[in-house]
Amino acid sequence: MFIEKISFLNVRKITQYNEKFSPQTNIIVGKNGSGKTSILEAISFLTTGKSFRKKHNQSIIKKEKKELQIQATIISKEEKKIKLIYSGKKKQFYKNNKIIKTTTSLLKEASIVCDSPEEIDIIEEYRKEKQQYFDKIIFKIDEEHIEKIKKYNKILLYRNTLLEQQEPTTPWDDKIIYLGLEIWKKRNLFFDIFSNIFNETQTKIKNKQKYKIEYKKKEPRSAQEYKYKLETNKKRTEVGPHKDNIDLYINNENIKEHGSQGEKKMLKYLLKITEAEIIKKRKKEKPIILLDDFFSKLDNENIMKIFSYFHRKFQVIITTTNTNDQVLKNIQKNSREIKIFNKI
Ligand SMILES: Nc1ncnc2c1ncn2[C@@H]1O[C@H](COP(=O)(O)OP(=O)(O)OP(=O)(O)O)[C@@H](O)[C@H]1O
Ligand SMILES: [Mg+2]
Repeated sequence: MFIEKISFLNVRKITQYNEKFSPQTNIIVGKNGSGKTSILEAISFLTTGKSFRKKHNQSIIKKEKKELQIQATIISKEEKKIKLIYSGKKKQFYKNNKIIKTTTSLLKEASIVCDSPEEIDIIEEYRKEKQQYFDKIIFKIDEEHIEKIKKYNKILLYRNTLLEQQEPTTPWDDKIIYLGLEIWKKRNLFFDIFSNIFNETQTKIKNKQKYKIEYKKKEPRSAQEYKYKLETNKKRTEVGPHKDNIDLYINNENIKEHGSQGEKKMLKYLLKITEAEIIKKRKKEKPIILLDDFFSKLDNENIMKIFSYFHRKFQVIITTTNTNDQVLKNIQKNSREIKIFNKI
C-alpha cells in the first residue's frame, strides 16, 4: 500500500500542501519548525483519526482557521481517495466521496506504522502507556480487542468506585472476569508472535546488542481463582490485565536505566519493524512507514541498517533537518529511487 498524492489545508502552520510521493522512499528535508512533523501528522490523522503527538487536540488546526482538510490518494488492491474534514469538534471521513461511518471502517482503509520523537516514548513511560502502546498494535490486526479493552476499563472504574463506597460489586464481577480472561488470551497470543518476529528481525539486521521484550502478568489459572483473588481485596481491583507489565531489556539489563540514547532509538525502530511485519503478515498488505526525524541520534551504521530494511520493501516517508547532508548524500548515491523534498 502507498500514498500516491496528498493535499491538505490548515494543518498547524501549513496553509496549503500538495505533493506526489514515490511508492518507495521519500525524504522530506527542512529546518526546525518548518512543518515536517506536521506533514506526517496529517497522514496519521487522516488514516487513523488521531494525531501521534502527545498533547494533541484542536491545536492541529491552523491558528485562526475554523477547519482543516486532508485528502490522499492511496493505492492498495484498489485506488481510493480518503478525505477528512475536521472542525475541532467533528471529524468527518470520506472514501471516494462517501461518508465513512466508524473509526473501525476507517482503519480498514489504510495501515501506517509511525515513529516520531513527539509520540509517547515506550521506553521512558510507565505500565499503562506501555500496555496502550502494544494494545494499539493489536487493534490494528484485531478489531474486537479495542472494544474489549474499552468495556474492561469501564467496568474496572465502576468496580473500584463501588469498592470505595463499600458497596457490593457482584453484578460486575463475572463480566470483568470474562473480559479479563479474553484480554489475556489475546495478549498472550500477540506477545508470542511479536517476540518471535522481534528476535528474527534482530538476527536479520545483525544487531550488535541483544534486545528483549518480557511480557509480565499475574494471570490466574482459572475463572474460580480469578474470582477468589478479586473477592479477597475489598479496597481495589488489584488483579487483572490492567496490572500487566512489559519490560524492555538490552543485554539483560533494563534499557530505561542502562541504554544510551542511540540504543534506545534503535530498540524503538526494531519495535516498528516488528509492527510493520506483523501487519504485513496479518493484513496481507504492506503498511506505509513514517519515520520522523530519522537521522538523529543514530550512527551511520545503524542508520543504514534501518534504512536498508525498509527501502524498496515498503513506502517510507522520512523527515530530517538539513544538518545531515553527508549521510543524505551517501544514501542518495546508493539508490536512485529516493525522492527528496526540500521544505524551506
Ligand atoms: N495550530 C497551529 N497554527 C499555526 N502554527 C502552528 C500550530 N501548531 C504548531 N504550529 C507551529 O508549527 C510549527 C511546527 O511544525 P513541525 O513540528 O511540523 O516542525 P518540524 O519541521 O517538524 O520541526 P523540527 O525539525 O523542530 O521537528 C512550529 O513552528 C509551531 O509553532
Ligand atoms: Mg519535527
